[in-house]
Amino acid sequence: MFLLKEKNPILVTGGAGFIGSNFVLDCLKQGHEQVIINIDKLTYAGNLNNLELINNDPRHTFVQGDIADRILIQKLLNQYQPISIIHFAAETHVDRSIHAPDEFIQTNIVGVFNLLEEVRAYWKGLSDPDQHQFRFLHISTDEVYGSLAVDEMPFTEETPYRPNSPYAASKAASDHLVRAYHHTYGLPTLTTNCSNNYGPYQYPEKLIPLIILNALQEKPLPIYGDGKNIRDWLYVGDHCVAIRKILAKGRLGETYNIGGRSERTNLEVVNTICSILDEIKPRAQASYHSLIQFVKDRPGHDLRYAISADKIEQELGWKPEEVFESGLRKTVQWYLENTAWVEAAGTHAYKKWIKNQYQ
Ligand code: NAD
Ligand code: TYD
Repeated sequence: MFLLKEKNPILVTGGAGFIGSNFVLDCLKQGHEQVIINIDKLTYAGNLNNLELINNDPRHTFVQGDIADRILIQKLLNQYQPISIIHFAAETHVDRSIHAPDEFIQTNIVGVFNLLEEVRAYWKGLSDPDQHQFRFLHISTDEVYGSLAVDEMPFTEETPYRPNSPYAASKAASDHLVRAYHHTYGLPTLTTNCSNNYGPYQYPEKLIPLIILNALQEKPLPIYGDGKNIRDWLYVGDHCVAIRKILAKGRLGETYNIGGRSERTNLEVVNTICSILDEIKPRAQASYHSLIQFVKDRPGHDLRYAISADKIEQELGWKPEEVFESGLRKTVQWYLENTAWVEAAGTHAYKKWIKNQYQ
């Protein structure tokens, strides 16, 4: 039987990615004695520069590794004895999942299964009070619910799963596994289904950083189809607060939808970025809007995602703080100020991907 260490270590998976790194930085910034073990495979999307601010922080231990590696996961669990696990690690880009779904199945399904198996064995070995305190928080997406028509009600926790892309299907499968591990084995799980995040440290293959960086490099701003697809946007800092609340007070076995109450068409998002840049870093001649190009649509492109966050708002008293336009302005500013991060993120892997996509 293991005895949990003091300071209740948290094991974070995927903590060198966009949301995971924001969560790790945010947790340590809260100032308390939180200890974090961060396991990340460092795929093209993982970036240790995201964690530069805590390079010498003794509260943070980084381990490069794969969630599917059961021997490594078992070793880490026994060595660090975490009291909770926040599982962010995943393959996350819809377009990549369309071109090459294999890694999505491997990490998002097989990886989650392997992780759950090791976590189950570890949890079983804990003392009764520690078993009681333990949490496995699985971070998922609103994309598992499929696509809404413009006039349909937003997704609730009761909306049936209808994933449309290989990415969404792989995340749906992982949600089902987590649910089954709670239902069958009593593993104390929590699942969150969140809308599109934006903010610092997002890899520039996703819409918002891609548009900001293309605009700054005077490159075309690609909008799929007619630009009328709608996403709900949540500032990543608000997501981190929601995760902490759910970890502390969420009901076991439950899922919580997290959204920003900020539905925008893609064209609106891109236009807003162009207007912000026109104001704070104007081009010599034309406005940034003139760089917009409508390109071939994504196959099976979901029309609209919208989240009802009533459950988390009512049960846990969480609400997003950031208004989309001010959050977007902060984000644009961040990419303008963090040129070294931007340079390093523009690795050959990203450039190759962009080249394959658009040339
Ligand atoms: P990301 O692509 O920026 O980062 C994913 C991280 O996981 C990377 O650091 C990568 O190296 C790591 N990783 C990938 N495969 C791994 C493996 N097999 N073992 C260990 N590490 C591995 O993703 P993100 O945007 O930060 O998303 C984090 C989580 O949040 C994902 O589960 C995603 O489905 C979910 N989510 C994201 C959004 C969004 O808008 N970004 C919205 C809702 C939910
Ligand atoms: P993305 O950031 O890839 O997130 P997701 O597909 O998970 O919602 O895309 C957000 C929206 O922006 C989506 O409707 C696809 C669209 N999009 C573009 O129009 N152009 C682009 O270059 C990218 C990457 C996305």
